[in-house]
Amino acid sequence: GQENAEYLVSLIRSVPGFPKEGIIFRDFMPVLADPKGLNILLQALEEALPVPADEFDAIAGLESRGFLFGPTLASRLGKGFIAIRKAGKLPPETIGESYDLEYGTASVEIETEAVAHGERVLIVDDLIATGGTAKAGADLIEKAGGKVAGFSFVMRLDGLDGIDKLGGVPTSSLVSMPA
Ligand code: PRP
Ligand code: MG
Repeated sequence: GQENAEYLVSLIRSVPGFPKEGIIFRDFMPVLADPKGLNILLQALEEALPVPADEFDAIAGLESRGFLFGPTLASRLGKGFIAIRKAGKLPPETIGESYDLEYGTASVEIETEAVAHGERVLIVDDLIATGGTAKAGADLIEKAGGKVAGFSFVMRLDGLDGIDKLGGVPTSSLVSMPA
């Protein structure tokens, strides 16, 4: 409940001016480092699922920070885990999807065979800001033949309209923070 959300927020480290001026870096690593925090995090993600667990088949995590809790959450729910990687890390064959950054573009990739045809996938990440990363991950899952059942985030940044980019797919986040 509210108490757990407050406990999570108390552990999130905020670093103004990183990685560049005007940005507040929101670091959830201290949540993972705290035994009680880690337990609350996983329990809260499970309780706040955007759709019931029987409405998706697998969890996909976005590199890097979506890898830190995605497999554990998947295991708790009896699912497997799919890794959506940053470009250039995987051997062929891969499928890719580009997205815009503030300056330039970035790409995410998965193995061609990573998603079964029609597989329903919950996408997880630590944070949604502009939504560019999550949207690219979702487009990639669809390109690979899957269906995005929902998104689950630990944090959402206010005022950036990131969730509006996700096309109305059910989305949950545990805490919101100023951008
Ligand atoms: C951060 C964060 C999200 C993304 C959110 O990842 O972990 O994945 O940015 O931003 P967006 O909604 O504006 O796309 P980042 O690419 O910085 O790297 P990391 O996860 O590898 O640390
Ligand atoms: Mg990330």
